[in-house]
Amino acid sequence: MKSKVYIETFGCQMNVADTERAATGLRKAGYDLTTVAAGADVVLLNTCSVRERAERKVFRRIGEIRNQAKRAGQQKPLIGVMGCVAQLEGAAIFEAAPSVDLIIGTQATDRIPSMIERARGGEASVIDLDERQEDEVWDVSPAERRSPYVAFVPIIEGCNKFCSFCIVPYSRGREKSRGALEIVTEVNRLRNLGYKEVHLIGQNVNSYRPKSQEGLERFSGATPFSRLLRAVAATGMERIKFTTSFPRDFHPDIVCALEEYPNLCDWIHLPVQSGSDRILKAMRRGHTADDYLRRVDAIKQSQRRLSLTSDIIVGFPGESDADFENTLRLVRNCQYDGLFIFKYSKRAGTPAAFLDDVVPEAEKTARFLALEQLQESLQHGVYGDYVGRKISVLAEKESARSSEDMTGHSTCHKVVNFRARQTQPGEIVDVMISEAKPYSLYGALAN
Ligand code: 5AD
Ligand code: SF4
Repeated sequence: MKSKVYIETFGCQMNVADTERAATGLRKAGYDLTTVAAGADVVLLNTCSVRERAERKVFRRIGEIRNQAKRAGQQKPLIGVMGCVAQLEGAAIFEAAPSVDLIIGTQATDRIPSMIERARGGEASVIDLDERQEDEVWDVSPAERRSPYVAFVPIIEGCNKFCSFCIVPYSRGREKSRGALEIVTEVNRLRNLGYKEVHLIGQNVNSYRPKSQEGLERFSGATPFSRLLRAVAATGMERIKFTTSFPRDFHPDIVCALEEYPNLCDWIHLPVQSGSDRILKAMRRGHTADDYLRRVDAIKQSQRRLSLTSDIIVGFPGESDADFENTLRLVRNCQYDGLFIFKYSKRAGTPAAFLDDVVPEAEKTARFLALEQLQESLQHGVYGDYVGRKISVLAEKESARSSEDMTGHSTCHKVVNFRARQTQPGEIVDVMISEAKPYSLYGALAN
């Protein structure tokens, strides 16, 4: 009987993509993948360390998995930690959690099968924090994809930006772009397999800079990323989304590309992090609030109504009431379609970890709630504008509210629930919107 591997994924889309890649390699090496931890021979936790809370979760899960096996009278599975916590903490994890057998760095995904073999052969504390090898290609089998309709396609890994609060440049290394030809080939293959939507993903997709022009020759554009957008759009894939965009590298030619190709979706995720120039400087973002607003203007002035979302950190060291007021003002100005708000979390090893003038937890919470409330009221208006409009929705699954309804995402990446009739998951349908809630839209199939 084949050995069973269970992978649990935390954190961002890059981790989801890494899990799919790891699963593909394991299946090729003769393992079975399972969706439950109980009874698995190998348990891998693909971890996130962007905030402290995410990191603590890993250690709790390791304990739960060990105890579960003990209670069931089973042998402890091999336990592996992969992802950002593995890369950052390295061998220290073996000491903190002695039941861990494998530590798999963020670039060791393709070497997991041989690491497992070593552990099964009796080697204790197997660890690999090395870089990806030159000849490794990003290979994901459709069987391992999380959804049969929506696929994540990494185009750039790592980050060179070193924002002072962020651990990612340390956990995922320097920016490395995939070849355009490889990306376009993958999107073509996904299209032939019936995928309806791809997400081009990376920490900063618009910093895309491949080593060669191969695959981009026929496409013009002001930056390699806007050329890649055109090349991917030309495959005819029905819907193409991309995330995350970095403000400093956001060229307005991206908006031009979206206007040329309707299959490039009407959604841009452009995190600002703060509305205060003083804090943006301390964050080492490389842009001011005005620089950011100029990018937003280009987006808002597009002939297409482009949906705009962002991330904001509240309570960065030294953030005063006046700084926070600037953030509120910027948010009012941007009229975001969605906003992810985070309380600043100190990450050891980042420059911001050395800053004093810590904002008290109670103040962080108060700012979080104030910003959340502001965004909710603004979003109510933004979503309300969709009432009476027809939008295109990819039906994904039965809605939790009623078995007669389905739920899916619009091209502008909003959750839409609708009365489904004969609609099957994976179908793209037009929905007439009749009702707006702050975080979702509701409607019925348009005739
Ligand atoms: N504390 C709080 N939020 C953070 N993020 C990244 N690092 C931190 C941190 N140390 C947020 C940023 C980023 C998002 C993915 O996570 O807003 O855009
Ligand atoms: Fe982190 Fe800044 Fe890189 Fe984004 S751009 S991953 S926030 S360092």
